[in-house]
Amino acid sequence: VSAAIESQGIRVVNRSVATLIAQDKAVSLSILFSKGIPVPRTYVAYGLESILEAAKLIGYPLVYKPSQGSWGRLVSLVKDEEMLRTLYEHRELIQDPRARVGLVQELVDKGDRDIRALVVGSKVVGAMYRVGEFVTNYARGSEVIAVKLPPEVEDLAVRAADALGLEIAGVDIFEKRSGGYIVNEVNPVPEFKGVAAATGIDIAGIIADYVISLVRR
Ligand SMILES: Nc1ncnc2c1ncn2[C@@H]1O[C@H](COP(=O)(O)OP(=O)(O)O)[C@@H](O)[C@H]1O
Ligand SMILES: [Mg+2]
Repeated sequence: VSAAIESQGIRVVNRSVATLIAQDKAVSLSILFSKGIPVPRTYVAYGLESILEAAKLIGYPLVYKPSQGSWGRLVSLVKDEEMLRTLYEHRELIQDPRARVGLVQELVDKGDRDIRALVVGSKVVGAMYRVGEFVTNYARGSEVIAVKLPPEVEDLAVRAADALGLEIAGVDIFEKRSGGYIVNEVNPVPEFKGVAAATGIDIAGIIADYVISLVRR
């Protein structure tokens, strides 16, 4: 839809190309990695053989997730090869082509929470912890707590959004228990109800102001 609107010469936030890139984890993680942003160790795999091969390189337990998806759907914590084979068989039977490309990823030891930072116009406008077991998506009902991020983490979130050309982005960040921060993914169409609820910040208003500032320029 946004590409069709752009073709009429109308400016869209986010730009359609940036949204398309960010919706694919294989593509966007590659770009983030190439720009020096820390991401989970990831293999893109098609077919059972390459998935099992990637799993050997990563080691169990690992994370197996579709390259495109949201709300934590199909994101799987895999304990062993038998479980991976079974999950693969299930994915094979799913008609949706987006379920075809799989990512085999290291399980990042993030404790019981991760960080969601909302970036608007190269600024972090709000952030929260999402507390949960493995999958912490707010859409899945995880508990959320407002947090003021240290400047280095705000900077990481902004760099990740900028690297993908996104003006509005929800950046998922893992804080490793051993120290350091890793960008898990950058959402181009972030649902900001969670951040708004946790922080009380008028996110919709900030986004509106940002768009108005572009028009004035
Ligand atoms: N490599 C990983 N290590 C640890 N936890 C992960 C990993 N990948 C995903 N998760 C957990 O699963 C959730 C959903 O995964 P994510 O990649 O963000 O997919 P989605 O696009 O569906 O939100 C994350 O917010 C996180 O809590
Ligand atoms: Mg996510």
